[in-house]
Amino acid sequence: MRELSLRFRLLVATSALLATSLSAQILQPAEPVAPLPETANDHPRAAAIGEKLFSDVRLSRNLDQACVTCHPLDRGGMDGLQVAALPDGNSHFRNTPTIFNVGFNPTLNWDGVVDTLEKHTERLLTTLMKITWTELLARLRDDAEYRAALPEGVTRSSVLHAMASFERSLATPNSRFDRYLRGELHALTAREERGYALFKRYGCASCHQGMNVGGNLFQKFGVFEDMTQPPSHPIDMGRALVTKVPRDQQVFRVPSLRNVAVTGPYFHDGRQGRLDAAVDTMARAQLGRRLAPDEIDRIVDFLRTLTGEYRGRLLTVAPSRAQR
Ligand code: HEC
Ligand code: HEC
Repeated sequence: MRELSLRFRLLVATSALLATSLSAQILQPAEPVAPLPETANDHPRAAAIGEKLFSDVRLSRNLDQACVTCHPLDRGGMDGLQVAALPDGNSHFRNTPTIFNVGFNPTLNWDGVVDTLEKHTERLLTTLMKITWTELLARLRDDAEYRAALPEGVTRSSVLHAMASFERSLATPNSRFDRYLRGELHALTAREERGYALFKRYGCASCHQGMNVGGNLFQKFGVFEDMTQPPSHPIDMGRALVTKVPRDQQVFRVPSLRNVAVTGPYFHDGRQGRLDAAVDTMARAQLGRRLAPDEIDRIVDFLRTLTGEYRGRLLTVAPSRAQR
């Protein structure tokens, strides 16, 4: 009797194992999301200098902000504010996107205005940071560390290459969801798995898909409901700013949902502080559906499994700013 039950348990265990490896094989090709690569550091030496540049206030004319000011790496790669705060006390008109996994976005900013990190940085230095190349290169050449680390010279292209290499290294692999996609089916609880099933069934994955669970499409914000703000709000022309085509007003880049649990507030204008409310808005505005509260909760459970690791540590937000 005892032997029998042992053999029975062995049989169950083997078939479970078989089922796991079988479904792991079936799972991958058909899934709308692909796991992140475990390493994304193509130029480690340049990236190391890029890291220093990323937190160097000399990149701003008045020495009053660095990239990390708005993209802190210890809290989700963004500032947690509704819209970014400028050093002069004014506000930027948009919510700061996370800098993590930015190398997997084929276009950048909420309107996809540029398509490489080099072009993005170039643009940023002269606009947001208000500095000229002459001034910036003079400052950086004064620093022995930069001179030593950039033997090819402290030049426009070596600086841009270093910064872009660092940004491309900012991947957050090993989220529980990626482990699940790689075949560790127990990495998700039954509730989270159900949330993923709902995410696919309701069609969230038709817009939020690919390696970054978004980032690779442009879509109108408000397909079924008008999402424009009351006239008292400044109007953001969205993608129309780039294409100059009137029908691209209210069109934005579909954001990546990787690490979304730690990158609130949500939407291009940060209008929504809570993740459950953002999911509810999406269902209504993009899919014309009202989800039941427990469906929203399950989808949120799933979205939380998209939080990955940077340098071996799971991304978090300071408790006071945690959403939900
Ligand atoms: C004042 C806050 C602020 C500072 C300082 C700042 N950023 Fe940003 N960053 C933003 C905002 C806001 C956006 C979105 C802009 C838009 O969509 O028009 C953004 C967007 C980005 C993006 C695009 C992300 C994506 O997914 O499309 C990258 C890359 C980026 N910033 C890198 C940098 C770098 C590099 C620096 C330093 C040179 C920097 N940022 C400094 C606020 C800031
Ligand atoms: C038709 C395309 C489309 C569909 C379908 C869609 N989304 Fe979105 N999603 C977008 C766009 C576009 C935005 C950015 C809107 C903005 O800020 O202007 C967005 C933003 C979000 C955000 C905010 C992310 C951030 O960082 O600000 C979340 C969360 C989200 N979507 C979740 C979902 C969920 C969950 C579903 C399914 C219930 C869904 N989306 C369905 C296009 C879509």
